[in-house]
Amino acid sequence: MVDIGTARADIGVIGGSGFYSFLDDVTEIQVNTPYGAPSDSLFLGDLAGRRVAFLPRHGRSHSVPPHRINYRANIWALRSVGARQVLGPCAVGGLQSAYGPGTLLVPDQLVDRTKSRTQTFFDGEPLPDGAVPHVVHATFADPYCPAGRTAVVAAARGRGWEPVDGGTMVVIEGPRFSTRAESRWHAAQGWSVVGMTGHPEAVLARELGLCYTSISLVTDLDAGAETGEGVSHDEVLRVFAENVGRLREVLFDTVKALPEPADADCLCRHAYDGQDPGITLP
Ligand code: ADE
Repeated sequence: MVDIGTARADIGVIGGSGFYSFLDDVTEIQVNTPYGAPSDSLFLGDLAGRRVAFLPRHGRSHSVPPHRINYRANIWALRSVGARQVLGPCAVGGLQSAYGPGTLLVPDQLVDRTKSRTQTFFDGEPLPDGAVPHVVHATFADPYCPAGRTAVVAAARGRGWEPVDGGTMVVIEGPRFSTRAESRWHAAQGWSVVGMTGHPEAVLARELGLCYTSISLVTDLDAGAETGEGVSHDEVLRVFAENVGRLREVLFDTVKALPEPADADCLCRHAYDGQDPGITLP
């Protein structure tokens, strides 16, 4: 394991631990951030001719529950090594019967139903170097990167896995799954899928000017969309494992297709143009 040094990557992937074996020539890098430690080391390597930093969202031994993830440290760490595009593969429950296990959904909207998570870098708390973040209001009407979404949808189609292009992810606090009443309510709103980690990952990426794209794999029908006993963690793990191979293929093709950092100039990079953040981004 080495310190950050000159290590660089253009693209960050925050995902389950089924992913870092897909990088070539991996270097493990420990990154410290003003917000504390990320979920784990960054694993930097080559994928499809690009430099990629992989971060296991829950730690390599899956020991960090969704509500305890240090989302700020994770996003800051990825930007510290140069990442400007972040892909967030994650397991979700389907809220509509059409979105059963094995569905790949690339959401274009997000609803936050979490309760306890710090969701901004701009909270007025001084950083260890003494800099004090100003109040900044980021534009977040469209939480996901349009270029990233297009790349994922095309990659999935290219692999014969017809994705759902768009939809709303509601993020719950977890770690428990929803009650049937909560889930029926989520479904009745017309929301598509439910997860536990999509927020504040996306908004923190936006605050650091990173493009962020969620790649949501449906592992189960949530309690409001089925009549059985409700979701079990075993079911989530089993369906994720069944699909991780093709998810890796989609990631490979997506990484290949993402714009080079210098060519990307989407709204994600301009979410608070004209406002002074008061801190220097890494
Ligand atoms: N992750 C996978 N399935 C889920 C569900 N049904 N609810 C919340 N998060 C999930």
